[in-house]
Amino acid sequence: MKLMILKGTKEVGAKAAELVINEIKKKPDLVLGLAAGGTMIPFYQSLIRLWKNKKVDFSHVSTFNIDEYVGLSGSDKRSFRYFMQKHFFSRIGVWQRNVHFLDGRAINLNVECKNYEKNIKEVGGIDLQILGIGRNGHIGFNEPGSSFKSRTREVLLSEITLRDNARFFGNDLKKVPRRALTMGIGAILEARKIILLASDKKKAEIVHRALHGEVSKDVPASVLQKHKDVTFIFDKEAASELD
Ligand code: F6R
Repeated sequence: MKLMILKGTKEVGAKAAELVINEIKKKPDLVLGLAAGGTMIPFYQSLIRLWKNKKVDFSHVSTFNIDEYVGLSGSDKRSFRYFMQKHFFSRIGVWQRNVHFLDGRAINLNVECKNYEKNIKEVGGIDLQILGIGRNGHIGFNEPGSSFKSRTREVLLSEITLRDNARFFGNDLKKVPRRALTMGIGAILEARKIILLASDKKKAEIVHRALHGEVSKDVPASVLQKHKDVTFIFDKEAASELD
């Protein structure tokens, strides 16, 4: 396990972007697992800057986003697909056919999840998975209690996640979808390399529990202690409760 503690959220994003482009240099057709959320915005901004400066070529990279709300289409401004288009994909040269999302409006959500994993296998598995962390320790939308063997599936979001994400829904809790699709923890752990980013004081307690607490289903991110190639990149505030 590698741990990097940097000044602020911008530095966290810049460091993660640097590590990603190093991997793309080694393997131009890298299979990259991505996440949405506030922590990721500076990371995507750094990647866009590097792309504009011709430091990276995404044209052979494939991406798989880790989760999506059930019931929102990709054109819905609150979907993760829309978030990714806005903050990243519309700004860089990546072939849209190499960009993959779970479809939260699929008629059969089980089939959708199975096909997603099949697609990942067909391109050789995820080389590098980028993760954020929820205040309850979720990774993707694997909420506390998720099995470490869980596969890509439909899940119910916990109260704390609904409250935290209400900011993307006009602060109206009732508008936040209760259900989501997420890559399972078992699927995430198959990534060859994992980088988890966290910034802000509000993540400090869970970051401490994830890294130094017991490996337990109560804190899904704690399972990463068992992964053979994981890098944690935190800002000072998120790391402030580490021993
Ligand atoms: C979203 C995802 C989530 C977020 C987490 C942190 O695709 O995978 O696990 O990474 O909820 O979100 P922020 O960064 O908004 O605090």
